[in-house]
Amino acid sequence: MNFPTISRPQIQSAALNQQFVRNCWYVIAWDHEIPADGLFARTVLNEPIILFRTAQGITALEDRCCHRLAPLSKGRKEGDAVRCGYHGLKFDGAGQCIEIPGQANIPATARVRKYPLVVRNKWVFVWMGDVDKVDESLLPDNYSCDSPEWRNIPGYLHYDTNQMLICDNLLDFSHLSYTHEKTLGGSPAIAQSKARIERLDGPGPRGIRVSREVPDVPSPPFYNRFKNYTTNINRWFVYDFVLPGTLLMQSGGRPVGAAPDDNSDAVILHSCQTVTPETDHSTHYFFQQSHRSDTGNAEITQKIYDMLVLAFEEDRQMITAQAAMIATDPTHKMIPIAADAALNQFRQLVRRMVEAEQPQV
Ligand code: FES
Ligand SMILES: [Fe+2]
Repeated sequence: MNFPTISRPQIQSAALNQQFVRNCWYVIAWDHEIPADGLFARTVLNEPIILFRTAQGITALEDRCCHRLAPLSKGRKEGDAVRCGYHGLKFDGAGQCIEIPGQANIPATARVRKYPLVVRNKWVFVWMGDVDKVDESLLPDNYSCDSPEWRNIPGYLHYDTNQMLICDNLLDFSHLSYTHEKTLGGSPAIAQSKARIERLDGPGPRGIRVSREVPDVPSPPFYNRFKNYTTNINRWFVYDFVLPGTLLMQSGGRPVGAAPDDNSDAVILHSCQTVTPETDHSTHYFFQQSHRSDTGNAEITQKIYDMLVLAFEEDRQMITAQAAMIATDPTHKMIPIAADAALNQFRQLVRRMVEAEQPQV
């Protein structure tokens, strides 16, 4: 299937696109963030949501009491139910009101929305679209988040920017050479290498596959934290970036001259990262970078995490500054370059999905 060509002004306006694809799974939290006996609130796609644990598992409800619209998260968990902290209405895990203090009759309309929810490999996903379109085959394969073969420390960052600018960043690794010169990159060779871009049209998650090989480069500062290469290395990055904004990446490096299947002195990593819009202008960012559990130890896991946090703060500062600059003149044109290919294709895919979800008139 060909993507429709779109004009520069359309791409420009998409830089501030406030519309979201709804019929897909968004990560709302890491599993461990939901307390055993309490309430957890987070906004997704401008919708306030409350999460809590029941005997049936984690449940996700609209965080807005149907009585006078107070946040349920200001109330308390009572067993498998939540009681509003204002006038005491109590809701079960399905969102149905089961108690109104001082009133025997409970109207069937006294309920709050319940969101479909799946916990997969420590990511808690909510379905933000039509409940009759729920499709678990669209869940991304975030296997390394929870596998005995991989070790990582889970991370979370909050952005005060639109999610599409973060997707752009994750779809163009040429920025590793400059934004992350002292952390993940270490060489202009990444920006100079050409990425192979392919479309993933399903079945399953749809998106873009980006493959990049960077031969014969110095080991980056990131690897030097836990490897002592005395020669240049060959690096690779192969990742799928799938709707609504999830990166699943194999990456690594091995000494120049080592056979392609010789992992005896290689760095082998798998990373899962996902962006979830909080509001039109703010975003949740969940991430982890795993190493093989048969290589390295807890100290290396910590070093990888520390470097990743450092690098992602570099991204956040750059993207936040970019967003502020765009806001000074949202009509200002951007000049396309070859490195924009993947992010332009992903933006087209998002536009196409958003349009397909609009009600037909
Ligand atoms: S607002 Fe929740 S009980 Fe009144
Ligand atoms: Fe980055």
